[in-house]
Amino acid sequence: MIGSFPQYEVFADEFLDHAREGFYNAFVDRPACLSLLGDVAGRDVLDAACGPGLYAAELTARGARVTGFDLSPRMVALSRERVPAATFRVHDLGAPLGWLPSASVDLVLLALVYEYVDDRVAMLRELRRVLRPGGVLVLSRMHPTGDWLRHPGDYFTPRVVEETWNEGWHVRFWLSSLQDTCAELREAGFLIEQLVEPRPVPEGAAVDPLRYERLSHQPTGFLAIRAIPDPRRG
Ligand SMILES: C[S@@+](CC[C@H](N)C(=O)[O-])C[C@H]1O[C@@H](n2cnc3c(N)ncnc32)[C@H](O)[C@@H]1O
Repeated sequence: MIGSFPQYEVFADEFLDHAREGFYNAFVDRPACLSLLGDVAGRDVLDAACGPGLYAAELTARGARVTGFDLSPRMVALSRERVPAATFRVHDLGAPLGWLPSASVDLVLLALVYEYVDDRVAMLRELRRVLRPGGVLVLSRMHPTGDWLRHPGDYFTPRVVEETWNEGWHVRFWLSSLQDTCAELREAGFLIEQLVEPRPVPEGAAVDPLRYERLSHQPTGFLAIRAIPDPRRG
């Protein structure tokens, strides 16, 4: 189990400095998810696990009305400072979104947090509840193949692992297979519209040629999925 301890709290400020222009976030994950979200102007967007507000800033600039939340109080404080036009609160994805009415948002963004949640089906059901009919969920997670290459062994049985990243950040998260993520979405009442294995955008080539080359050819970055509430399931 991961539980509800805010792992990112101790390095929230460092995460902001890193992810603002960091290769994986700025040149791989954010371009992929923003592209899957499409035109957000005038839409109500729920930024689930908003971190320091990097997505919220961009979505607000593109004309969205953004509500964000995160388990880490420091992340929420950073988001509030950086994106005064949006509203933020501390909330654990492991708990129901009691403060949000059903069918109240057009888009849900769930970027790079999937692997930190113990009951992923319950989380997805709750996100489906708050989506309006015709709404869209965009989620990204670490690529299961990259995870498996770093943690060889049984690919198919979900398990919690620990890593210390280059920045010295210590994290615990779930390894789970691609088929489990697809099954969890289906069980929660979503249909996958598009699944991409994002490769770096061309501007990344000059920033970090080695990473650009590797992530352009190897499935060791992220997955990004655009899913819609299954209209057959009420
Ligand atoms: C890798 S960061 C991603 C932040 C942001 N989505 C982005 O892509 O810039 C993961 C974030 O998930 C948050 N988080 C982890 N577990 C959570 C939970 N159970 N509920 C809400 N947020 C959580 C962390 O505090 C952290 O801000």
